[in-house]
Amino acid sequence: MTRKGILLAGGTGSRLWPITLGTSKQLLPIYDKPMVYYPISVLMLSGIREIAIITTPDDQPQFQRLLGDGSQWGVSFTWVIQEKPEGLAQAYLLTRDFLDGAPSAMVLGDNIFFGHGLPEILARANAQEAGGTVFGYHVSDPERYGVAAFDADGKVTALVEKPKVPPSSFAITGLYFLDGRAPDLAARIKPSARGELEIVDVLEHYRAEGSLQVERMGRGFAWLDTGTPGSLLDAGNFVRTLQDRQGMQVGSPDEIAYRQGWIDAKGLAERAKVFGKSSYGAHLEGVLKE
Ligand code: TTP
Repeated sequence: MTRKGILLAGGTGSRLWPITLGTSKQLLPIYDKPMVYYPISVLMLSGIREIAIITTPDDQPQFQRLLGDGSQWGVSFTWVIQEKPEGLAQAYLLTRDFLDGAPSAMVLGDNIFFGHGLPEILARANAQEAGGTVFGYHVSDPERYGVAAFDADGKVTALVEKPKVPPSSFAITGLYFLDGRAPDLAARIKPSARGELEIVDVLEHYRAEGSLQVERMGRGFAWLDTGTPGSLLDAGNFVRTLQDRQGMQVGSPDEIAYRQGWIDAKGLAERAKVFGKSSYGAHLEGVLKE
C-alpha cells in the first residue's frame, strides 16, 4: 500500500506565549516562510502525496487559508482536528480512517530538517514496508527529548522519554515512518504520568519485536528546534544564512512539487505570480528559468 503522510500541527506552544496565544506556533515565520512549509516539504520529498493535517479546532481555518486542499502542489490534504493536545501518539487514533491500513510517515509541524542526502534517507525509510524507521540526532541536551539507547553493535536496546540520566546523546527526531499497525498499537497504550499518549510507547512495540530502524543523522544534517523564542530566531537565521549564501530555498513545497513532476511549468508560473514581488516568488521565477 502507498504510504500516507500525517502532519501533526496542534499543541499549545506554551513555551512561546504570548506569541502563540493568538496563533498557532506552526504558522509562525521561519525567516521567509511559515514554519509548516518545512515539515510539509519533508513529506513531499519522501514522495508522499496524501497528507492528513492535524490542528487545534481554533487554528484549522488559518491553516486552510494558507494551505488549501493541496492541489496547488499536486497533493491532497485531509483536515483533522485534535480537540486537546493529548500526546503525539494520539495522531494515529485521529487518522485511523484516513490511513485505512496504509503505512504512514508522521512529521511534527515544528520540526525542521536540512541536509545533504536527505531525499535518499527518506526514500530508504519509505521503501521499508514492515516495521518502523525513526531518526536519531546527536544533541547537547538529550534530557529534553525521547532518547535511544544502543548496544555495542549499534542496535537499539531502549527508548526513553525525557530521561533524567540519558543513556545516549541521540534524540529521536519528530519524523516517524511506521507500518499499518500504528493505529492499533496506539489504541493499546495508556497515558503517561504527564497525561499524554507517548510516541515512545508505540515505538517501543516495534523495538521489542526487532522491527525498528534508528537511522542516525550525522554531522551533515541540521535538525532544528523551533519551540522557544531563542530557537525560533536561530532557526530563522539558519535558513536565511543558507538561502542567501546559496541562492537556493530550504523548505519550498512549490519547488519540490515541480521537481517531483507533480505540477508543470505552467503550474509553477501561476504560483510564482501568486507570490508576486516577494523573495519567495522571485525564487520560483528563478527555478522556472533554470
Ligand atoms: P511540543 O513542543 O511537545 O508541544 P507544544 O508545541 O504544544 O509546545 P509547548 O511545549 O511549548 O507547550 O509539541 C511538538 C509538536 O507536536 C508541535 O508541533 C505540536 C505538536 N503536538 C500536537 O499537535 N498535539 C499534541 O498533543 C502534542 C503533545 C504536540
